[in-house]
Amino acid sequence: SLAGVDIKEEIKRLRKERNAVILAHYYQDPEIQDIADFVGDSLDLSRKAAETDADVIAFCGVKFMAETAKILSPEKIVVLPDLNAGCSLEDSCPPDKFKEFRDANPDHIALTYINCSAAVKALSDIIVTSSSAEKILNQIPKDQKIIFAPDKHLGAYMARKTGREMLLWPGVCIVHEAFSETELLKLKAKHPGAPVLAHPECPAAILDHADHIGSTSSILAEAKATESDTVIVATEPHIMHQMEKALPEVTFIGAPGADGNCNCNICPYMALNTMEKLYIALRDLEPRIELDEELRVQAKKSLDKMLEMAG
Ligand code: 13P
Ligand code: SF4
Repeated sequence: SLAGVDIKEEIKRLRKERNAVILAHYYQDPEIQDIADFVGDSLDLSRKAAETDADVIAFCGVKFMAETAKILSPEKIVVLPDLNAGCSLEDSCPPDKFKEFRDANPDHIALTYINCSAAVKALSDIIVTSSSAEKILNQIPKDQKIIFAPDKHLGAYMARKTGREMLLWPGVCIVHEAFSETELLKLKAKHPGAPVLAHPECPAAILDHADHIGSTSSILAEAKATESDTVIVATEPHIMHQMEKALPEVTFIGAPGADGNCNCNICPYMALNTMEKLYIALRDLEPRIELDEELRVQAKKSLDKMLEMAG
């Protein structure tokens, strides 16, 4: 039983004892973000995982992120507080179906969003994140045909932005898919002048009303630079913790779902990680991410390409 255990203190003690680094995504619970050594977007977190000299990476995010850390830093022990922390985008793209799609389009390269399994990374040419997709896309010769998987909204947004046609895999993020255009318009009418900051995983109908579109770190940077007293945030609401800490005088409002509030936009996978499970992961060094070595080496190729091209 955890009764009587000071979870926060134990996490801090174990982190030292294990020479562990705690990496957290902006969609994690505020308590986890506050105890982490580093909080970032998917690209920042991949870079940190590749660079760290810690012996243990306690990854507070979802499984594809912890797998990425293991692919890039195989000699480290990588623990994920809850192994069931998946992602609807990863689920939408089973490796066998993805392989069939690639085989049916042999003249296309596969540009794949990092939100996918290690097996899909191994079947891809270049991995991208929302903060690196445009830069990477612009380095690919104009006549090269491209498959973009698995997020159709990010893919469509990138296609619009760069003027490139791409074959899109039909995956969606269930969190960003849940925003309601009607409710967003009502909220905007209530707060005239409040800028809307949106993640490119949102459908076009939401992005059409956004003043700024970008990855979590880009949304956060934009929020911190605001001169407005109210800002509307169309991404997973836990990121507002960092905004509220940085600018306590500004009101940050999560974009609403069909019910008119932003609670339906909490990522149910990210929410599986808790302080208690982080403590147990550091204590037991379980549950660990383990990958087949051949698969890891193959998946690393497309990830290395991303790190190289993202600069
Ligand atoms: P970024 O942090 O790279 O913007 O990704 C958002 C996301 O949905 C992660 O699951
Ligand atoms: Fe996946 Fe969406 Fe959750 Fe990110 S927010 S982990 S894309 S389901």
